[in-house]
Amino acid sequence: MKLGIIVGTTRKNRQTTKEALWVAATAKALAGTEVELIDLADYPMPIFDEPISPRYNPAREIDPTAQRYMDKLAAQDAYIFVTPEYNHSIPGVLKNSFDYLDFQMVRKPAAIVSHGTVGGARAAMHLKEILSESKALPIPNFVALAHMSEVIDEDGKLDAAVAAQPYGPQAGLQALLDELKWTSDALSAAR
Ligand SMILES: Cc1cc2nc3c(=O)[nH]c(=O)nc-3n(C[C@H](O)[C@H](O)[C@H](O)COP(=O)(O)O)c2cc1C
Repeated sequence: MKLGIIVGTTRKNRQTTKEALWVAATAKALAGTEVELIDLADYPMPIFDEPISPRYNPAREIDPTAQRYMDKLAAQDAYIFVTPEYNHSIPGVLKNSFDYLDFQMVRKPAAIVSHGTVGGARAAMHLKEILSESKALPIPNFVALAHMSEVIDEDGKLDAAVAAQPYGPQAGLQALLDELKWTSDALSAAR
């Protein structure tokens, strides 16, 4: 499984990179999995302003940075979006990236790790709806993280006591990854 982990915000001093590093480190331990971090900060796309909806415009003239991002997504078999909650939804920069997509994620599974004051659950639910429109297959469960800044370091290493909790974030992430891998293998074979 080629797994792309998308860092869903770009603001200065963001916490999301730490969570994404933790997700990536855990995912790397999965057998048969190649992990790539895809940071939206490396793809500074303008606000989407194409004249025709991308899926209905075979003659698109695409912003080169957006094209680079789309190519990167197209090269993956599966995705994990690591997103904070901003104003009860996903960050605008993440939503803008979806507006560019046409067929890159079709019939591929996508999982969500959200975080925020109350775990980012509202952002995660919005993202599930958006993923459906990208024609990806959202994994039903998601990991919602609250108060993570107190238990994760700059390199994405989780506090050992928290990592050992039977129903804590580490266990939740492992279950999510197992489900994603199973679904990705099934869909890869079918594709
Ligand atoms: C612009 C903005 C809006 C936010 N809105 C919400 C919100 O609606 N609900 C919530 O629970 N947390 C909200 N938060 C808190 C963030 O989800 C939380 O601080 C998260 O760790 C931010 O991720 P980041 O540091 O990677 O940007 C908001 C933070 C920012 C910067």
